[in-house]
Amino acid sequence: MFTLKISIKVGLWFSLCILLIEIVSMTFLHRNLVHTRIHQEFDSLLARGNSHSGVLEINSDSHSLSHIGLMGSQSDAHVVVTDTTGEILITSNKIDRSIKDILDKPISKSNLLRNGKIIQDDWKNEQYIATVTAFNKNGKISGYVYMFKNTDDVQKLISQLNKHIFIASILILLTILFFIFFLSKALTKPLITMKEATKKLSIGDFSVTLPKPSNDELGELSLSIQTLANDLNYLKQERNEFLASISHELRTPLTYINGYADIARRKNLDEKDRVQYLDIIQEESQRVSSLLKELFDLTKLDQNTFSINKEQVNLNNFIRSIYERVLPAYKNKGIQLVLDCPSNILIDIDPIRFEQVLINLLDNSLKYSNETGTTLIKGVKQNGEVQITVKDQGIGIPSEDLPHIFDRLYRVDKSRSRATGGFGLGLAIVNQLVVAHGGEIKVKSQFGKGTCFTIVINQ
Ligand SMILES: Nc1ncnc2c1ncn2[C@@H]1O[C@H](COP(=O)(O)OP(=O)(O)OP(=O)(O)O)[C@@H](O)[C@H]1O
Ligand SMILES: [Mg+2]
Repeated sequence: MFTLKISIKVGLWFSLCILLIEIVSMTFLHRNLVHTRIHQEFDSLLARGNSHSGVLEINSDSHSLSHIGLMGSQSDAHVVVTDTTGEILITSNKIDRSIKDILDKPISKSNLLRNGKIIQDDWKNEQYIATVTAFNKNGKISGYVYMFKNTDDVQKLISQLNKHIFIASILILLTILFFIFFLSKALTKPLITMKEATKKLSIGDFSVTLPKPSNDELGELSLSIQTLANDLNYLKQERNEFLASISHELRTPLTYINGYADIARRKNLDEKDRVQYLDIIQEESQRVSSLLKELFDLTKLDQNTFSINKEQVNLNNFIRSIYERVLPAYKNKGIQLVLDCPSNILIDIDPIRFEQVLINLLDNSLKYSNETGTTLIKGVKQNGEVQITVKDQGIGIPSEDLPHIFDRLYRVDKSRSRATGGFGLGLAIVNQLVVAHGGEIKVKSQFGKGTCFTIVINQ
């Protein structure tokens, strides 16, 4: 239905325009041709009349008159010569009613007539067109040469011209309609392909491949739709993977809980072991609930249903309070924690959310560092942007994992992370929060040497 509509619409508009252009140009051409042709007729008639009167001015005896009559009878124009009273001196053909009517019409007998004058120009309705030229004798008008030409010839000529123009117009029109048909199809084809692609997208089929886009607006649109389809496809895959990972994450602790609950239920178990198993059950269920809490946080971040309440804070004071909170854990593991931040940097952030960011990064540094080494937290302000760096000398991240560490549930070493209690959600949350602050987070890492996270926020 759509196919029909758009191509027909385009085709009709084109045809209408072409039709208008053709009508205007053909009318113009027709008028000009007719005008030129008629003028030629009048000019030739006048010229002949003038030449006859020229002859009669030199010699107007009966010999010259009969010669002129003879010439008229042999040509397509009639000649009538009268004297000043209207008496016919010679006529080349029989005088019919139409000629008589013209001869009877009074003419202004001025000297101007010596150059000839058109006295009947209505070639459409009258039977003759006519001119008159006066000739002089001894400085006085002594007679008139009338020239008549039958309009049948002109009319025949014009009607033939009309026929030709009509045939030419029809031929041009048909050719153009033929091209418009293909042109409108060619123009609307990409639109229809795109429309079908979006229809497929709307019913959840993202396997859309559009033809190579052309270098114009339609091409851009096609490229956008292709990009959209690819993105949706990627999101669909990511969502599936995400759901698979979550169900996996949930299955492991639940299996533990189930298994240990079974054992703890045994009657002959001594009390110490039972308490130990119950502790494991509690630990695992806490793990599940913290996983759910983090997932819930992420969902809120994703849907933008959280608000960032920015306020101006002194960066040094802010980092120091976090530093003091995590220091005991670092000391406990034997890792040095160093703070380096000038005391005069002010920054607009949501302190509660941003605390979450730094705690996550510092938690990672602690988790993924061995017992030696130093972790540095650094704050600087340069070129209108504040940079906060957390740099450790821990185990580092292999370069092939680096692009994925901000993905949800992504962990470099699954077994180790499990031992350290991570879900692979921390950095995903950090990334979302930094983006929500209008900043960005970058990471550099060398496997076995250490990792450096840098947050950049424009101020
Ligand atoms: N400082 C770091 N040094 C080495 N590896 C790191 C560091 N920070 C993150 N990683 C790696 O990136 C992965 C993702 O980190 P992320 O903080 O998102 O998850 P997690 O720490 O495993 O779990 P969660 O933070 O959800 O408790 C980690 O599993 C770890 O392999
Ligand atoms: Mg983490």
